[in-house]
Amino acid sequence: MGGRDATMVLLDENGIRCDGRKVDEPRRIMIKAGGLKNADGSAYIEFGDNKILVGVFGPRDVHPKHMSNTDTGILRVRYHMVPFSVGERKNPAPSRREIEISKVIKEALEPAVMLDKFPRTAVDVFIEVLQADGGTRCAALSAASVALADAGIPMRDMVAACAAGKVADTVVLDVNNEEDQAGQADMPIGYMPNLEKITLLQLDGVLTSEEYKKCVQVGVDGCKIVYDIQKKALQDKYFGNGGD
Ligand code: CDP
Repeated sequence: MGGRDATMVLLDENGIRCDGRKVDEPRRIMIKAGGLKNADGSAYIEFGDNKILVGVFGPRDVHPKHMSNTDTGILRVRYHMVPFSVGERKNPAPSRREIEISKVIKEALEPAVMLDKFPRTAVDVFIEVLQADGGTRCAALSAASVALADAGIPMRDMVAACAAGKVADTVVLDVNNEEDQAGQADMPIGYMPNLEKITLLQLDGVLTSEEYKKCVQVGVDGCKIVYDIQKKALQDKYFGNGGD
């Protein structure tokens, strides 16, 4: 929340944002289920200018063995940005930020996955961010849910994710990169619409308690939009013409 470009108009007098969207409008979202031949399940998402590929492997044997659990399966998540995914080349070695995002995505997915159905095994989720433009953790989490479903992993629900935030003293849906850098708050939310449960909620910035409640409500509504697109991606692959 730096106020990097003080001259940029984040919200004009007609309530239109810097990329032409209304306050409650998400960026363009496209999800494709499947696509990776060597993975057990996969998904590709475009969320605005974010482009992210997810491959799921398992349930499979755990190596090293001491990490396995006799009572339940384990979920392992690696979020990784390719070096050319951002303007300034990113070092391919895992950064602190990537380790944190891997952890929060894993914890956001765990309530959805029926890990107790496959004890002693692991499900691995590999996330490759090909192009980043703000909100990659939400886009990656949404794609990871579709990839897990595509792999046939038993799930209680899919996690849909979208951020809300505060820009020019206004609560908006789906904060883009410019808004994230110059805006006042960013709240990524992961939500299971069928179970009505939030599995991810982070907040960068400062909000009043009223704004906080509004952000949660706006973010959850955004997740419901994403959820419909996730379901459509799976329907297209398994019941439509999009199969491969
Ligand atoms: O991507 P997300 O909003 O979930 O996480 P963030 O840590 O708030 O990062 C916001 C954005 O900063 C990313 O989506 C990238 O567009 C950008 N970024 C970057 O330009 N260079 C990096 N090394 C990391 C992030």
